[in-house]
Amino acid sequence: MTIDAWTKAQAKRSLNRLLPKLEHLASGVDAGEWEVYVNRLRQEFPRLFSILFHLYATNYDFFFYLEDLLTRMTEMWLARSSDLKALDAARIIDPNWFEANRMVGAMCYADLFAGDLRGFRKRIPYLAELNITMLHLMPLFQCPKGDNDGGYAISDYRSVQEDLGTIEELQETATELRRRGISLALDFVFNHTSDEHEWALRALAGEEEYQKFYRMFDDRHEPDEYEESILAIFPDDHPGCFTYSSKIRRWVWTTFNNFQWDLNYENPEVFNRMAMEMLFLANIGVEILRLDAVAFLWKEKGTSCQNLPEAHMILQAFNSIANVVAPAMVFKSEAIVHPDEVARYIHPQECQLSYNPLLMALLWEAMATKNTGLLRHSLERRFSIPSGCAWVNYIRCHDDIGWTFSDEDAVELNIPPHDHRRFLNDFYSGRFQESFAVGLTFQENPLTGDARICGTTASLCGLEKALGEKDEEQLELAIRRILLLHGVIATIGGIPMIYLGDALGFLNDYSFREDNSKTGDNRWVHRPSFDWKKAEDRFEPETVIGKIFHGILRVIQLRQQHKVFSGMDTEIIDPRNKTLLGYFRHFEDQTTLCLANFSAKHQTVLGSHLRLLGMRKIVTDLMSGKSLVAMESLVMEPYQFMVLVKV
Ligand code: GLC
Ligand code: GLC
Repeated sequence: MTIDAWTKAQAKRSLNRLLPKLEHLASGVDAGEWEVYVNRLRQEFPRLFSILFHLYATNYDFFFYLEDLLTRMTEMWLARSSDLKALDAARIIDPNWFEANRMVGAMCYADLFAGDLRGFRKRIPYLAELNITMLHLMPLFQCPKGDNDGGYAISDYRSVQEDLGTIEELQETATELRRRGISLALDFVFNHTSDEHEWALRALAGEEEYQKFYRMFDDRHEPDEYEESILAIFPDDHPGCFTYSSKIRRWVWTTFNNFQWDLNYENPEVFNRMAMEMLFLANIGVEILRLDAVAFLWKEKGTSCQNLPEAHMILQAFNSIANVVAPAMVFKSEAIVHPDEVARYIHPQECQLSYNPLLMALLWEAMATKNTGLLRHSLERRFSIPSGCAWVNYIRCHDDIGWTFSDEDAVELNIPPHDHRRFLNDFYSGRFQESFAVGLTFQENPLTGDARICGTTASLCGLEKALGEKDEEQLELAIRRILLLHGVIATIGGIPMIYLGDALGFLNDYSFREDNSKTGDNRWVHRPSFDWKKAEDRFEPETVIGKIFHGILRVIQLRQQHKVFSGMDTEIIDPRNKTLLGYFRHFEDQTTLCLANFSAKHQTVLGSHLRLLGMRKIVTDLMSGKSLVAMESLVMEPYQFMVLVKV
């Protein structure tokens, strides 16, 4: 947003009026420290003010909310620990810390990984074994018993589920991780609360003030109008986006499950209260805040109610608030939408990090088709993002795999998008005879024919089938596929993020079908509990698990040993072979060429082509540690991944 002179002047006036009140709060604080805080506030305030003015100035009590916000922000800053304030100072000096090659992310559910937070802390050495430096712990906060969308329906943002531990334990966990050089990532589930959140309960009890925290309608008139232009996200749960509450006889906006009530960000009270929930997370010691479901924050009739400009403004305002109070914390956006829209969330003043759903989806696409055309074509156009930002590159997460490539990119290559998505769904759900993959579909929409895919990396890569059929050759290929995918995410620009069980090749787990709170949501198939007995196999390099674990560890080490994998500079090349993906990585004066073979056959790259790309006749492959002579051609084994440097 650009800020005009008038708004700037008003911002200045407002801040000058409010500062004395803030100073009052801070009596007793070290003068130097206070000055640093006030300087940050002065720097950020024009931007923050201009966004809030745009969103909320039509409320007669706008200034009240402004004062309320600054007061609460200052209280949160005062409550921030000195350790975290020290981290703030360090990160201001090194704002692109997350682009370093040391960064390797992982994700897990505390309960499925280790029972609870106490168990988790005992397992931190396992993270160290894998050289993990960033950990996303899945939602841990209070939520309804039974179905709670894996914790994404929060009833209280400040208390941990009893079975997992306490808020103090979470804070201690964050501190311990930080001491060991691991940055904690937690979710900020701020598009919706559960229907058991105090605000929802008070709304249900008829308190109008709290009904305004959500989007509620007396009859179907407006919901029908909205639904003309929006798509259902969880059509298996309920059609459309609204749920009727007979208790208050009103329709409630529920984008996801019917127990997840969308918050109403048109209400400044909601903005202020949620900003404080965000800062509460920052003060626990969260360094990477995963912003859940960002696309859905704002609604407007006649639109898809996704990715609206106001959704971006809310993120920018939160970014500004975090910069003032907790500058050590960066945002990661979770926008699993069209790649053009994904890119719009990525900016130093919005979300510094973003999931890379395009790379994720197209890695699977290339694996199924043995053709890297669409992957290459899309990355060439869409991999680069603003400086000061980074991708989080993943193979799969706790959610489904959606085919979010751009239709236009596909059409340019004469690929019919709709049929292609159907083929991919068939391939990964086992409907396609020759497929190696074992997976399930998710949220098949009979109206549109859309579907998404669920499955662990190992099962989707063919391990489950190969083990079932005791097919040694397929087993070997499956392991290679798993390692190939990890090779790419570990080396392409950004932070790789591994699903912890994937590093041990865990297979699909069908037991969720027996659990009433999980059955019907196929995503549970790829959230197996951690089998620590099986994990012991990692110490035996000849076992399947041993091979996968050591292969993944190898690419992690490779990344961390070579500075060239820092930063985001990634140059996609044309390897003149449609089954290969190739890219240069550049950092400072270093360069490497990564090559990945997406086929089960040997493939070649012409030696003359490699020389055209600046390689010599003899190159070293850092993966195998061998020097290769590529006079005529360079030969790649099935699913081989190479990292070439000039000798
Ligand atoms: C995010 C989460 C997903 C959840 C949804 C609703 O997309 O990743 O698991 O279902 O938000 O909160
Ligand atoms: C998020 C994603 C969507 C995904 C859903 C549930 O909202 O945008 O693609 O399917 O969560 O997993």
